[in-house]
Amino acid sequence: MKALKAAELRKLFLDFFKSKSHSIIPSASLIPENDPTVLFTAAGMHPLVPYLLGQPHPLGKRLADTQKCLRTDDIEEVGDPSHLTFFEMLGSWSLGDYFKKEAIGMSYEFLTSNKFLGIPSEVLHFTCFAGDSDAPRDNESAQAWEKLGIPKERIHFNPKKDNWWGPAGLTGPCGPDTEMFVDTGKPKCSPGCAPGCACGKYFEIWNDVFMEYEKTVEGKFTRLAQQNVDTGMGLERTAAILQGKPTVFETELFSPIMLKLRELSTNYDERSARIIADHLRAATFVLGDDKAVAPSNVEQGYILRRLVRRAIRHGRMMGIDGNFCGEIARQVVSINSGQWPELSRNSKFIHSQLEAEEERFGKTLERGLHEFGKLFSASPSISGKDAFLLFQSYGFPLEMTQELAKEKGGKVDAVAFDSEYSKHQETSRVGAEKKFKSGLADHSDMTIKLHTATHLLQAALRMVLGTHVTQKGSNITPERLRFDFTHPEKMTPEQVKKTEDLVNMQIGRFLPVKREEMTLEEAQKAGALAFFAGKYEKGKVSVYSAGDFSKEVCTGPHVDNTGKLGKFKILKEEAVSAGVRRIKAVLEPAK
Ligand code: ALA
Repeated sequence: MKALKAAELRKLFLDFFKSKSHSIIPSASLIPENDPTVLFTAAGMHPLVPYLLGQPHPLGKRLADTQKCLRTDDIEEVGDPSHLTFFEMLGSWSLGDYFKKEAIGMSYEFLTSNKFLGIPSEVLHFTCFAGDSDAPRDNESAQAWEKLGIPKERIHFNPKKDNWWGPAGLTGPCGPDTEMFVDTGKPKCSPGCAPGCACGKYFEIWNDVFMEYEKTVEGKFTRLAQQNVDTGMGLERTAAILQGKPTVFETELFSPIMLKLRELSTNYDERSARIIADHLRAATFVLGDDKAVAPSNVEQGYILRRLVRRAIRHGRMMGIDGNFCGEIARQVVSINSGQWPELSRNSKFIHSQLEAEEERFGKTLERGLHEFGKLFSASPSISGKDAFLLFQSYGFPLEMTQELAKEKGGKVDAVAFDSEYSKHQETSRVGAEKKFKSGLADHSDMTIKLHTATHLLQAALRMVLGTHVTQKGSNITPERLRFDFTHPEKMTPEQVKKTEDLVNMQIGRFLPVKREEMTLEEAQKAGALAFFAGKYEKGKVSVYSAGDFSKEVCTGPHVDNTGKLGKFKILKEEAVSAGVRRIKAVLEPAK
């Protein structure tokens, strides 16, 4: 096995796939451009979804890259030897070109050949999909491994929850996968211990996904027009295995950061140090992305804020009193800017944002912890109201309060927190409400978002079904939108999906929503839809446009950017009367 540095592994991987006729494509931004189903790019395949679905890629049918990824699903696990929120994924693709046998052959060659990683074949284990009512058992992959000389004992079959990959729970391309594990030589944690067990004996390093299915809105799996391969290898964890390091934090990607944290702290704790190293590394990459976002209370900004604030709290726990985020970010930039020059290019922004966040939160953290202590001793079940108080007055993200409570064996009423949160948004908008006369039921944040979504929906329907679509009615509650429109027949499932996708695409494009004033005549000349024109006849009207996608005469209010909407989902399409259809749809928090 070759003790490669991460940079050497990255180069070797890309060179290998280049030698197999793959074009090397640049990493996409961490902030997705065309995939509205995720807040951050969470896998190499995310930016490639249109090509997996059949659109021709300009660089051909074989691609490889290293992609910046951020996942928060495993955030609870950060602190163990291998889990990270931000990581680099080495990936390769066949877009309807070669399939299982060839992909498995390439994976095996790269892993075991002495020209490449040189991992002894005997320590490798493989898992394949066991099959269920949606898709058959993946015997083809298992046979491909067997043909390469792998004995049956090292080929394991697992159910969908382990050996099926697709963007989690959502629609889109997906399929069975075969995963590659290194046996670390540790004893089995139990007689049933096998690859997939979390004890750390088997370390997953690569995943070949065979994307020949698409999950539909109805939760069905249909065959895609082409058979794709999507492979992903975690750079940090594979480097750790190759270097014989028991944790990713001991590789050169992290060791200078860990050293710095030892230096700065008076009460060093390994788990806290790992959390800080991971979270501030992730924050530095988000802030250092050319499509940077700043810490805020919504979406990407909220995740960023959570990461930074959690790191700050763990810093305090280790006795680091002064500001330290900037110092750690400097290490992250210096370790990574060779591969990721945007980090140095954007270092001013990284530092100013971290500094401001540390300033803000540093001021309230102590008092918030004090307040939490008081609340907790009164009751270890923190109410939604109290969790909201900690959020509003001391800037504690809900997850931080949950973590604090969990550490002491208590809990937080998260559902009540959410309703407290929306109640508050509502109250603070009572004054503003008078300004708006659009006839909406109320102006909570959700109804404003749904109102903007209604505009996107109307424009999307006109694209999918035709320009005969005109609005017949609209009704919005904080839970859902309802939109009635003219169309002679039931929409097909394909049309529903297309419409939904089109709206989500506009959300993913972060289109600015702008308001202009003009006469009705001018508005109509500018191509604005104005179905209730009568209402506005006197004087000037407001025209709202969402980028280049929609333009409508309307009194508002609207969000200022479509990126704030979350994920748009059509729940129902039904008849209202002859020639009039009704759509009910919701916005879900983007995952
Ligand atoms: N998309 C696959 C994964 O993330 C390769 O594991």
